[in-house]
Amino acid sequence: MSTLIKGGTVLSPAGGVPADVLVEGEQIAAVTAPGVFGTADIVFDATGKYVLPGGIDAHTHMEMPFGGTFSSDTFETGTTAAAWGGTTTIIDFAVQAKGTSLQSTLDKWHEKADGNCVIDYGFHMIVSDVNDSTLKEMRTCIDAGVSSFKMFMAYPGVFYSTDGEILRAMHQARETGGTIMMHAENGIAIDELVAQAIAEGRTDPVEHGYTRPSALEGEATSRAITLARVTGSPLYIVHLSAAEALSAVAEAKDAGQNVFAETCPQYLYLSIEDLAKPGFEGAKYVASPPLREKKHQGDLWRGLRTNDLSVVSTDHCPFCFKDQKELGRGDFSKIPNGIPGVEHRMDLLHQGVVAGEISLGRWVETCSATPARMFGLYPRKGVIAPGSDADIVIYDPAAKQTLSAETHHMAVDYSAYEGFELSGKVDTVLSRGKAVVSPSGFGAKPGDGKFLPRDLCQYLG
Ligand code: URP
Ligand code: ZN
Ligand code: ZN
Ligand code: ZN
Repeated sequence: MSTLIKGGTVLSPAGGVPADVLVEGEQIAAVTAPGVFGTADIVFDATGKYVLPGGIDAHTHMEMPFGGTFSSDTFETGTTAAAWGGTTTIIDFAVQAKGTSLQSTLDKWHEKADGNCVIDYGFHMIVSDVNDSTLKEMRTCIDAGVSSFKMFMAYPGVFYSTDGEILRAMHQARETGGTIMMHAENGIAIDELVAQAIAEGRTDPVEHGYTRPSALEGEATSRAITLARVTGSPLYIVHLSAAEALSAVAEAKDAGQNVFAETCPQYLYLSIEDLAKPGFEGAKYVASPPLREKKHQGDLWRGLRTNDLSVVSTDHCPFCFKDQKELGRGDFSKIPNGIPGVEHRMDLLHQGVVAGEISLGRWVETCSATPARMFGLYPRKGVIAPGSDADIVIYDPAAKQTLSAETHHMAVDYSAYEGFELSGKVDTVLSRGKAVVSPSGFGAKPGDGKFLPRDLCQYLG
């Protein structure tokens, strides 16, 4: 079975070129000058459209346990929504519960995901219990294709690791080649501020923002970078939201340290003003780190341009407003943390191109090419080239759309971007050669997505 995508502009980090793409089976067979191949079994006319490698969302939480509930997207609904938005690979987080092994955690996450995803998927491992056997198991995880490990400087008593535990895990990462991903917020200080707020009767959602100041993200980011320097471990900062944290990353990069960072669309487009919406509406915007003052947004866009921020992921972690965010009415600290977004990352970042914040090349680089290399999937993913998986998005920059919970595919009862008017829309999505999204509808079923064992980070050695 062959598919020809003709007449489009093929995008890579270097920009766009007019080219045709021939797909045979699940792989890309050729990228040629326009018109070289006349026809194929299936032909998509991409005239006036972009042809780009499928999006890779390296930070999602499907069915994630949090505060007595679970994020509302299953692997089926979440990957379906991702596909509608032009994302063809997700990397989700398996969550080690204290007292359990990494292997049993991995088994559990395979049980949740295998046979249920419509696009390809991989896992990172959240390490919440650092001990001798967990540290040994990091190597087992890497052998099983899970080469990155998230740790938390936030959430004492839940996911939190001490500096000593982080140091030990970083040492092991250095030995094994694994990547440490860090949730960098000073959770000990934050918990104190939260307790004070509750004691003083300040219980509204906006207090979630006030009690997690950007300085405490800056501090934790600097501390994580220092621990990485001491151990010689590379470091990837997840969901960076604050100018102070960005400065710390930029400084470390300038000094030659292997420090990388991602940001998320919510930090580029939403702010603490959303968190301050009246009538408990702000609960929709509770995530950690919290939405910041608007002044941080310009710094984050600059970071995307300069590569101080090299990846855009969503941190998709949906909780329904009605029955889940509700758990924190009267006490903001009990609002499940997370914002839905897996469906809208490609569109929202394309809007950054429209607004002149980033180039077309950076759009593709931060949303597909770099996540592929960062997490050991290149060149299978993240590039339109012969031999690569035919994960391809045909994107219509001229189409208009309005984001809304009425029309999105995520299994959550609100949109954090309700009413956002965007230029550009996904037209067609191929996942390993199969048309998952096309003008004729949705063409994938649970189980079409396969687990992706990943190599080590490809920015090192
Ligand atoms: O609020 C968030 N970000 N929830 C998901 C868990 C995490 O820390 O990434
Ligand atoms: Zn986190
Ligand atoms: Zn997350
Ligand atoms: Zn619900």
